[in-house]
Amino acid sequence: MDSLTVLDHPVLSHKLAILRDENTRSPEFRKTLLEIGHIMSWPVFSHFSVAKKEITTPMENTTQNVLTSPYPCIVSILRAGNGMADALSATLPEAPIGYIGMQRNANTHLAEPYFKKLPDQIQNRQIILVDPMLASGSSAEQAADFLKRDGAKNILFVCLVAAPEGIEYFHKNHPDIPIITAALDRELDENAYILPGLGDAGDRIYGTE
Ligand code: URA
Repeated sequence: MDSLTVLDHPVLSHKLAILRDENTRSPEFRKTLLEIGHIMSWPVFSHFSVAKKEITTPMENTTQNVLTSPYPCIVSILRAGNGMADALSATLPEAPIGYIGMQRNANTHLAEPYFKKLPDQIQNRQIILVDPMLASGSSAEQAADFLKRDGAKNILFVCLVAAPEGIEYFHKNHPDIPIITAALDRELDENAYILPGLGDAGDRIYGTE
């Protein structure tokens, strides 16, 4: 399994251009994010395990691969992760959705968890951890730590835009967790925003700029 997958798809690129555009307002941003989620669900969900199941069609008996253990769940890093969680969930509503709230510690300036609500059997699930922006990597790294402390073993991190700094930091701490991103951008600025990026994803999704 590749540890970093940068998706390359003409329609994904087209829609990412809409998200990057500073003139795109939040209703169109949210709609486009949903559309991107549909495109990303194909490569993301291809990581799931399947097992053969006997099925009786109206015509005859057959076997068909169906999802098996570890069963999937989506875990959103609040708040921007919710936009991606909604998008992936539209294609796989069977997957329960968990939430992890992260906030910046005023003293250490590092992200730390302040809230969690996770699906049952988290240790036996294939977790799709989502946050649109992998910037410094601190939130994603802490969220993955948090999940592992609860026994999680199978985690996949999915984002829209990643910075090289975030990928390096995340993989140094969680070499076992593959990353799937729709774009790999150039760098972080001095405030840890991604360049060229798309600005503050949470503000742009929820119209709070
Ligand atoms: N979070 C965002 O929403 N945007 C960035 O560029 C970096 C972190």
